Parts: sequence; C-alpha cells; structure tokens
Amino acid sequence: MIADQKVHALYGGVVPELASRNHQVNIIPAVDTALKNAGVGKEELDAIAVVNGPGLLGSLIVGVTFAKTLAAALGLPLIEINHHRAHIMALFIDDPVPAFPFLALTVSGGHTQISIMKNFRDIEVIGRTLDDAAGEAFDKTGKLFGLDYPAGPVIDRLSKLGKPVFEFPEPKIEGLDFSFSGLKTSILYFVEKKLREDPDFVKNNINDLCASVQDRIVSILMNKVIKAAQQTGIKEIGIAGGVSANSGLRTALTQKGREAGWKTYVPRFEYCTDNAAMVAITAYYKFLGKDFADFSLNPKPRYSVD
Ligand code: KG4
Ligand code: ZN
Repeated sequence: MIADQKVHALYGGVVPELASRNHQVNIIPAVDTALKNAGVGKEELDAIAVVNGPGLLGSLIVGVTFAKTLAAALGLPLIEINHHRAHIMALFIDDPVPAFPFLALTVSGGHTQISIMKNFRDIEVIGRTLDDAAGEAFDKTGKLFGLDYPAGPVIDRLSKLGKPVFEFPEPKIEGLDFSFSGLKTSILYFVEKKLREDPDFVKNNINDLCASVQDRIVSILMNKVIKAAQQTGIKEIGIAGGVSANSGLRTALTQKGREAGWKTYVPRFEYCTDNAAMVAITAYYKFLGKDFADFSLNPKPRYSVD
C-alpha cells in the first residue's frame, strides 16, 4: 500500500511541511488498507517497526508517534529502523542474498555512501558524499533541463534514446568520498553557454544530454566502487537506494562484476526506491535478535547508519 504525494512535483522537490501534513492525513488509511490487502488482522502482528531517520523532522514525528501509539495499544514491541540501513537490507528480500562482509553502495535522494556491511548489526561507512547525493545530482540537473521532479527516472528513460556525446568532468576527490556539486555547476555553465548560441539547444539535444549526465554519474559511482573493492579485497558487492533503479548503474555494476570476478547484488526494481518491504525485512532480522526500541524513542532526523 503506497500513499503517494504528487503535490511535491509542483515545487520541484519535497516541501517538508506538506510532507508531514500529508503523512498525518494518510498514515491511518494507509496502514488499514495494507492490513486489509494482506489479509492480516492487527491481532496477528508480532511487532511494530518504524523508520526513524535520517529524514524530515515533521514526517518522523508523525511516523514515530503513530508507531509508538499502535505498539502500546496492541501491547507489541517497537522496532526502530534506520532508513539508510533499510535500503541495504532490501538486498535480503530475494535470493540470492549477499554473504558477509559485503560492500554496499547506497545511492538515494538523500544519501551516497559506500559501506562495509559486516553482519546484520555492524556497518562501517568508508565513503560518503561531501555535498549533493547522487539522486540530487540527477534531480537538480533534470531541473536545469526542465524535466519533472523526480528527474532520475526521466533521465534514465531518455538516456536510452540518446548517446553520451557531451563530456562532463569527473570530480577529483581523493579516497572513497564523492562530490556532485561541481558536476551540477559545470552542466549549468555548459547549458547556459549553449542556450546563448541556440535557444532550442536543450530541447533538441535532451536525449544526448540525459545520456551524458547519466554516463558521468554512473562512472563517478562505479570508479569509487572499484576503488573500494580494491582497497578492501571484498568481492561481494550490492547497490541499494532509489538510484540503484538506474538502468545504467545496474548494467555497469553487473558488467564490471563479471570482469572483476565479483558477485553483484541489485534489488528488484520496486525495492530500490523507498518502500515498506525494505523496512519489514530489516525489522524481521531485528525481531529475531530481540533488538527492540524503548517507548521513550524520539525522532532522529540525523540518525546515522553506523
Ligand atoms: O531512495 P529514494 O526513493 O528516496 C530517498 O531515500 O531519497 O530515492 C529517490 C531518488 C530520487 O533522487 C530519484 O530521482 C532517484 O532516487 N531515482 C533514480 C531512478 N529512480 C529513482 N535516479 C536515477 N535513475 C532512476 N531510474
Ligand atoms: Zn530512501
């Protein structure tokens, strides 16, 4: 059951106040419908899990308050879930699952990280973005091209119709960290210059522009994954998060994996962008470990994955 929030598309990004108000309106009907569709009664539940961050404070207040209230009313344990960790755990929904320790590239609208997942509890983050997330890089460049929000899936679709003929620079960041703000600025300057020469430049070249942006974002991500694999010697590698739905990234990982002798893992398409199944699978393993939260739980907008 998904309660969509199309209202944000009007603004080209998520509006925090609208998000939390919509959560408040939707949360009870969404949970009710999910139970009905699953044919499960409230009395059959074993625990209540809630994503507690990182995220927008207003939305977290709604989710955490609802989950605590429901768990207290039903006399069930409460399970706290980290959003980022849940994306990685989406790799455990379908077989084959990665073997520990594995490398996880988490790429979403809010995060870009490379982590070593040592077991179900221990994660070590070994690379992170210094500025924008990979999803933001897609969304912000898409906005420059006049594409709808979120632009990631649109760029992915249009890329298939074009060729990566425009060279956008790869940022020179040491180690395993990422940076996407320079790429966005260079695309902005490039597009502004071209539009002065030809006001229809973007319109006439949209497919090639999308293919070029996607190609560069994918190469930035893949080069760091390759470096991380070399540094750690780990050959089990998975991707997760909204941007792991990207066809260019999925193909690049699979191809590189074949060449390098890695075992690669990609979540099923519907488990890449935010979804409740990834939360449920994370909760399942926490439930087995009796890893329950206290009812004094408060929202954690900056909840770190490690
Ligand atoms: O994980 P997610 O649903 O939400 C966050 O936790 O942020 O990720 C959303 C992000 C957006 O930036 C969206 O543009 C991007 O994932 N995205 C994609 C694709 N599908 C979603 N980016 C590139 N290609 C896609 N196919
Ligand atoms: Zn997410």
